[in-house]
Amino acid sequence: MHNSIAVMNTKGGVGKSTIVLALAETLAAFHGKNVLVIDSDAQASVSSMLMTVSSLYKLQSDGATIVDYLHAAVLKDEQAEWPKFIVRNVSDVDDARTVYLLPSDMQLTLLEREVSKESLHARLRVVIASLLSAVRKVFDVVIIDCPPGLSVLTECWLRESDFHVSPTKADYVSVCGLEVFRRFKGLNPEMGFAENLGVIINMKDMKSASDQEYHRWLADNAENNCFTQAVPRMSALQDAANFQTFSRSYLAKYPGAAGASMRALTEELLARLEAANKSAAPASAPSPAAAMA
Ligand SMILES: Nc1ncnc2c1ncn2[C@@H]1O[C@H](COP(=O)(O)OP(=O)(O)OP(=O)(O)O)[C@@H](O)[C@H]1O
Ligand SMILES: [Mg+2]
Repeated sequence: MHNSIAVMNTKGGVGKSTIVLALAETLAAFHGKNVLVIDSDAQASVSSMLMTVSSLYKLQSDGATIVDYLHAAVLKDEQAEWPKFIVRNVSDVDDARTVYLLPSDMQLTLLEREVSKESLHARLRVVIASLLSAVRKVFDVVIIDCPPGLSVLTECWLRESDFHVSPTKADYVSVCGLEVFRRFKGLNPEMGFAENLGVIINMKDMKSASDQEYHRWLADNAENNCFTQAVPRMSALQDAANFQTFSRSYLAKYPGAAGASMRALTEELLARLEAANKSAAPASAPSPAAAMA
């Protein structure tokens, strides 16, 4: 099953983490999917969107994040068991109980520095490849939240994931970020790269002629494979980042047009995944609960 998606734009602040969160919660709540979110950003944005700050601090101080997994598997060359690093019951949406998280920590930056210092890039890539090959059998969809810029770890996700999607704002600088990304993808094609599942226009001001113009321009370029559904700039989507200690329904978190746009986007994403997998042979898979038992 080709189901791992790196969410990437070299430009910061275009809504990558927000889209990861909303896609994961929509896939779980509306489609009953088991979704693994991998937080590959030292800012740990999506981790803090999926749990309380105190729970995240605890995982970080207990050594239970992606940093600890990679530290063991890459720097120490140990057999780290990935299921031990996956957190269940994340998300404050009561009907999105099948979202799972591999959380992050700011120490990820230091880990990447160590990997570079010790020239362990090849080993890092092998570990990422084997992690993805294990989790793609267990989860229906695996979404990787990448930081802005192009780090050694991000490069591994981009080379080993099945797909990438790129959120962008409908503005000049964000579109330049896409161009940088495209040029990077064009380098060393022999090293392999994820397939473009599509560009997502995010934070679109539906009343702005300039946003509309950029949207049309991006959509006209077939290389972008733009999603038809743009995500509007809405306060509900901005507020979605604030994890609530009380659980709420999907429709309370994503009311009206915010939820409608995310559901339409998710349906498009599933249709694209299905089309891409049409030729792939079906595989039998253990449930996340069984895999992590
Ligand atoms: N559709 C939207 N409507 C309103 N606000 C949004 C929307 N999408 C994202 N935001 C807000 O924009 C800001 C940046 O979003 P986010 O952190 O998801 O971007 P990012 O690309 O992940 O950033 P970084 O590059 O730093 O990882 C946040 O305050 C978020 O709440
Ligand atoms: Mg982010």
